[in-house]
Amino acid sequence: MAEFKEISPDAPLAAKAMNWVDNRFPATKLYQEHMSEYYAPKNFNFWYIFGSLAMLVLVIQIVTGIFLTMNYKPDAALAFGSVEYIMRDVPWGWLIRYMHSTGASAFFVVVYLHMFRGLLYGSYRKPRELVWIFGCAIFLCLMAEAFMGYLLPWGQMSYWGAQVIVNLFAAIPFIGPDLALLIRGDYVVGDATLNRFFAFHVIAVPLVLLGLVVAHIIALHEVGSNNPDGVEIKGPKAPRDANGHPLDGIPFHPYYTVHDIFGVSVFLMIFSAIIFFAPEFGGYFLEYNNFIPADPLKTPAHIAPVWYFTPFYSMLRAITSEMMYALIACVLGGALLGVIKAKVAGLFKAIIVGAAVVVVAAMLVTDAKFWGVLVMGGAVVILFFLPWLDKSEVKSIRYRPNWNKYLYIIFVINFLILGYLGVQPPSPLGERVSQVGTLFYFGFFLLMPWWSRLGTFKPVPDRVIFSAH
Ligand code: HEM
Repeated sequence: MAEFKEISPDAPLAAKAMNWVDNRFPATKLYQEHMSEYYAPKNFNFWYIFGSLAMLVLVIQIVTGIFLTMNYKPDAALAFGSVEYIMRDVPWGWLIRYMHSTGASAFFVVVYLHMFRGLLYGSYRKPRELVWIFGCAIFLCLMAEAFMGYLLPWGQMSYWGAQVIVNLFAAIPFIGPDLALLIRGDYVVGDATLNRFFAFHVIAVPLVLLGLVVAHIIALHEVGSNNPDGVEIKGPKAPRDANGHPLDGIPFHPYYTVHDIFGVSVFLMIFSAIIFFAPEFGGYFLEYNNFIPADPLKTPAHIAPVWYFTPFYSMLRAITSEMMYALIACVLGGALLGVIKAKVAGLFKAIIVGAAVVVVAAMLVTDAKFWGVLVMGGAVVILFFLPWLDKSEVKSIRYRPNWNKYLYIIFVINFLILGYLGVQPPSPLGERVSQVGTLFYFGFFLLMPWWSRLGTFKPVPDRVIFSAH
């Protein structure tokens, strides 16, 4: 138990009240540890705003979600009507609903940029592996949250999108059909599905998400933030002042609170402009088909997920039976390379056994849909392993060989093309391009242990580079 602190009887009332609280709950201690005496690198750039923005959007989603729940009806017969009621009759209901639907897309924009920052500056590397892993788990939760939320308005896209995605689970050998039934609670998407998705969307997933965000921040504050130079400001060699504070750090409050307020203001301007002038965002944030009530007897001509899922959806569609041959060739090629390079006998055997298992499995389960599901899931799961895939000498892109920048640019363009193809109806050309894109996406990560070591690295400075502007 912490020592009980006495305070002078003449102290101001507020100080006395704070002392009373601090003797029972570490309010001041927490504030100091995480705000006023949390030293963050002084060279943060605009990429470092997206973490705070993600927190802001999380709060917006929770608050608007609570108000939506007050008038929404999780019932297949009433759901669509209740959303229309919110839009037309509930005072300010349209604003709350548009804030929530635009918020979902904003969340993904912000989180994708936030993740890309991590990639640029090697923020996932030692000692921040857990910060990254919690982040990846957050990303998975966000996907689940957005997917289940999209069913709730019970429009045509809600209904058929859920039907398509839940049916994917049925492609898993042995357990698939039962698993799909368990998720739906019925043989088709129906009232039972809507009820359980509602329960998951409003309470189960948000609770997990909140817990993970807290863990993400605790892990980050334990090791301290990385920065655009990838230089550790709290490392054993880092210079410190007489009080032991890092010379390259500044207290989070007031410096970064002000910095973040600026970012928040810019974000809110863009966010409001979209809400007030283009809430559907050309059908990308709210699809036009979703303004038609769900009709189980009428399949829309073209079913596409919302934009933030489409890069992964493209990878799913890229896996045709023909593509399976390319994948098997990649597995065999990779195994051969691994065997040639493996220096440890155990690893040698593990690679051969692993490759044999994959090839035999591919021959037994010939359903390309199952492999598509696996590839789609693998595209997210692979992110968890990034801290161990990157073998580069340095963290930040600033000190890596110049060609790394072009590789990252191609990675982004490839991801955007996959995203674009995912909203388009299937076509032979689109299929081919998405197959190449899928191979590039996986190649980027799986070959990282090799390419990240190549080239001439630039000398990393001892201290961060900072110029006051
Ligand atoms: C609800 C979603 C999220 C919230 C609220 C959130 C919040 C934050 C905050 C406030 C920071 C510190 C400020 C900053 O560096 O920008 C941070 C840092 C970080 N986040 Fe997240 N985050 C989220 C999702 C993610 C995801 C999905 C990933 C990666 C998969 C991720 C990876 C990281 C990493 C690696 C850092 C440390 C960056 C550095 O020090 O350079 N975060 N996060």
